[in-house]
Amino acid sequence: MDIYNYIKKDHRKVEDLMEQVVIAADGATRLRLFNEIKNELTIHAKSEEETFYKAVLDATRSKAVEHKMEHANEEHDEIEAFLQKVSGLSADSDQWLLHFGELKHAVMHHVEEEEGEIFEKAKTYLSADQARKLAKEMGALKKEMMAGA
Ligand SMILES: [Fe+2]
Ligand SMILES: [Fe+2]
Repeated sequence: MDIYNYIKKDHRKVEDLMEQVVIAADGATRLRLFNEIKNELTIHAKSEEETFYKAVLDATRSKAVEHKMEHANEEHDEIEAFLQKVSGLSADSDQWLLHFGELKHAVMHHVEEEEGEIFEKAKTYLSADQARKLAKEMGALKKEMMAGA
């Protein structure tokens, strides 16, 4: 597996969990799913930054690509802020659903950009061998983070 498929697998998992929230019957179910989403997203974003984003930045001298990666980092921060916001609300409230909707929207937008523009750029900089190594690195880092969480 290469880093692109590895990251896509994580994205599909979170998308699936977010869809389950939308159809969840009660606050307790929503909360359980949300905690899983929060954990997945936090670990995904951190390990992605430290392996994949870093490798792309190391490989490029393009200001445009550096700018794109900076933008992606800002979106991670934005998603983190939405996670904190939803965490502070009651899962039974309309407010919770409203802000969860914002979080979901931000995640979908980020995922689309990442799998589109960023993957396309990364593929011009990273060799197939590097892409496979990065999948292993991200996997190992995630495991470490999960154990420490
Ligand atoms: Fe990602
Ligand atoms: Fe990302």
